[in-house]
Order: sequence, then structure tokens, then C-alpha cells
Amino acid sequence: MTYLGLDLGTSGLRALLVDQGGGVIGSAARDYTVSHPQPGWSEQDPAQWTDALHACVAALRRAHPEFGDLGGIGVSGHMHGATLVDDSGRVLRPCILWNDSRATREAAHLDALPEVREISGNIVFPGFTAPKLLWVERHEPEVFAQIHKVLLPAAYLNFYLTGQHVADMSDSAGTAWFDLRRRDWSDALLDAGHMSRDQMPALVEGCEKAGALRADLARQWGLKRPVTIAGGAGDNAAAACGAGVVRAGQGSVSLGTSGVFLAARDGCAPAPETAVHTFCHAVPDRWYQMGVMLAAADSLTWFSRITGASAPALTSELGEALQPPGPLRFLPYLAGERTPHNDSGMRGAFTGIGAGTSRQDMTRAILEGVCYGLRDAQLALRQGGADPDRIIALGGGSNSDYWLRLLATVLELPVARPRDGDFGAALGAARLAILADTQANPDDILVAAEIGEIFEPDPALTPRFHAEHARFKASYPAIRAVQ
Ligand code: XUL
Repeated sequence: MTYLGLDLGTSGLRALLVDQGGGVIGSAARDYTVSHPQPGWSEQDPAQWTDALHACVAALRRAHPEFGDLGGIGVSGHMHGATLVDDSGRVLRPCILWNDSRATREAAHLDALPEVREISGNIVFPGFTAPKLLWVERHEPEVFAQIHKVLLPAAYLNFYLTGQHVADMSDSAGTAWFDLRRRDWSDALLDAGHMSRDQMPALVEGCEKAGALRADLARQWGLKRPVTIAGGAGDNAAAACGAGVVRAGQGSVSLGTSGVFLAARDGCAPAPETAVHTFCHAVPDRWYQMGVMLAAADSLTWFSRITGASAPALTSELGEALQPPGPLRFLPYLAGERTPHNDSGMRGAFTGIGAGTSRQDMTRAILEGVCYGLRDAQLALRQGGADPDRIIALGGGSNSDYWLRLLATVLELPVARPRDGDFGAALGAARLAILADTQANPDDILVAAEIGEIFEPDPALTPRFHAEHARFKASYPAIRAVQ
């Protein structure tokens, strides 16, 4: 039997075919685009997701005859997006994505209602789903009137695959319509957001069965046996399942476009006042918390665009040995910030530039600024009681040894990098498919990633980085005042 994990990302879809033990057989990927019709808007046509899905399946079928033995599919999706469908399943407008900030006003309105943080366990960030729907009600009433269901991106793929409206708990917890402790939609929150329970998909745990693959797709893809579709997960929960971060004490840091410091929790202990997110995990009775920074590796990508040098070329200029804090400071707020600032309007800055400042100084300041942002997330998580004693590094930025050495020293924690291979959201989604199809014990399947290297903190440098982190924090109000 084989299983397929689909990682529906912001810039593309990745499909990973694994065997029953989670061993990788092959993968395929297709990119798609995000449109920004107005500043701060971010949208995607869901037809791109299904086109990418068919292209990936075609590539896997050509390369791997094992695809014919498919027993299950799991979907990981970028979170918070609002895909609006009418009663015939037609998509009413492009999906409004997680990094869209048009609903800032609506988010502030919902966030100020006393029951919202209490029930949902989270600040209502402008990227969350509920404020988007208030925006649609106000600005596109003809669309709002036709909404039959609101589906998160992963739930839309579940719908495409099964014909049924089913979402998982981990993704649904990021809507601001969800009761985090009871793992159910909240009528009070739906009411506050002018929505109703019948406009929501049915809920299952990420590792449970959401339905079966539509017969016409099964025929088209040459599949003979029934194929289980798992509940799936939001991308961060799925990545944690792929890396085996599912129990209290386990944590990960992702240096992707955004930066995420994630800690698994055995209980539900929301701490919205710290601006961390608390969401359900993809397995029953577990939750996770995360501090999210919006421009982690993206800060380096931005600098790479400006300089015309690739990100690996820029980081390799720093050499091997970790240097003490540099003279230049970088505030990594290119797209606003969630944890700890909850401020979508703030922007980044370089300070301390001198006539002698080099490209290398700037790269070093960017890596340091991102690590200070993650230190902020770590301290916010600690306030809520989440304090992993070792973290797994994920995402594109984790290829840089220098960055991981710096991260370990700033966070004062060993940082473990998985051995080459697949351990991200697509593997997590495939593991959820295995669980949904076999009903195996989640702890037997969601095992820790095999570690390639461990980066230890440099105790001689940690105090200097912590002192610089304090100065980094102190510079925020001054920067904000001039923006
Ligand atoms: C999490 C979040 C992002 C998206 C896109 O709250 O907004 O991580 O899921 O990756």
C-alpha cells in the first residue's frame, strides 16, 4: 500500500508518495502564483491548486507504478484562507490568503469582543478567516449572499477529493470561529462573525478519515481500491507531524518565508496576551503553540533580490565560525509582525549603517535580526508555559550552518537539523493519511525525524547576543514612531 501527502503551499503544491512505513518513494511539485490586486491584498485562484494536483499526480504515475497501490491521501494547507463556495460547489471569488491584511479593521473589531479571545484562545489577527468574511459582507455583499460553505485551502482540496465538506481541527482552530478547548465550532463566535454553523464544514481530527476519494478521480488516476482521505492539517501542524513534534517538550523552528517557533502541548493552555497562537494539533487531545514572525527567510530573499546574489552565496560569505553581534541592526518587519507585536503596519529597518558597511555586514545583521525575532517568540511561548529543551530546524534557511549556529546561541538551545530527506508538511500529511487508513497509534507513526547534525549554543557569545537582543527590542518604539 502507498500513501500520498499533499503540501498545498502558498507558492506551489508538493506531492509526496510514501510506503506504508512512511518511507519516501517519490515526489512531484508544481508552482503557482499569488495575485496582489491592491497593496496588502493576497489572493489565489483555487483552480491553480487542482491543476497543480493533477499535474503532480500525472508525474507520480509516470515515474512510480506504486501509485496504483494508493490507500490514502492527506492534505496539508496554508492556513486561514477563505475559499467561498456556493451550493453547487462553485468558487465565488479568489481565495483570500493568510498573508492578506485588508481586514485589519474587522480583525480589531472582533478582537475587542471579550468572548472572542476567551473561546478561540487567540488574538484575531487580520490574516485569520473570520475578519475576512466581515470584509466580504461589507464590500462584496453579492458574493456574501451566495456563500454556502467557507472552506480553508486544505478543506477545499478535501472537498475536491471527496465531494464532501470536511475540515480538520488544527486548521479550523485558525479561523476565530472555533472553540479551542472543545474542538468544535463556536455558535457565539460564528454569530459574532455573521456566519452560521451550516456554512462550516463538518469536523474530524487530522488523523481521522474525512471521506473516500471520488469514484471519477479514482478511475481517472487508475486506482483500483478505495482510497481514504484523511482530515489533514494546517501546514504548521502537518510539518510538526512530519518532524515528530507532537508531545510536550518537543519543539521546532522553521526558517521558511515566515518564521515559526512551535512547541507541542499535551493540554490546552492558550495565552493570547503574549501574541502566540494556540491551535489544536492534528491528533486528538493535543494542541500546539507557536510564535510567528512574518518575514524570516523572506528577509534574506528580499536582500538577495536587492543584491542579485543568491541566499546561499550571501550566507557563505560569512564563513564558518560564529561571529559576535555585528555593528549593524536589522528589524525584520518587512510584512508587519505577529508575535510579539501584533502589528500588521510596522515595517523593517537597518540602523547603524556607516560608510564602511559591507554587503556581508548586512547579511549578518539580517540573520541576527531574524534570530532576535525568534528569541521574542521563544520568550512569548515561555510566558505561556511552553519551553522545549531542544528544537528541530526546518525550512529553507536551515540549510545554512551559520544561521543554525547563531540560532542555537541566541535561543540558548541545541538546534537539531534532520538528515537530508523529507520531513516537512508533505510527509506529515502522508503520515496522517496512513493513520486515517490504518487506525494505527499516532505515536507509532509520528516519530521523530532522523537527525543529521546538532548545533550547540556557544556559551561565550550568548550573553553578548542577549545584550544586543535587548537593544533590538528597545529600538522598536523609535522605529515605529517614524513610520
Ligand atoms: C500560520 C500562518 C502561516 C500559514 C502559511 O498562522 O499564517 O504559517 O499557514 O504558511
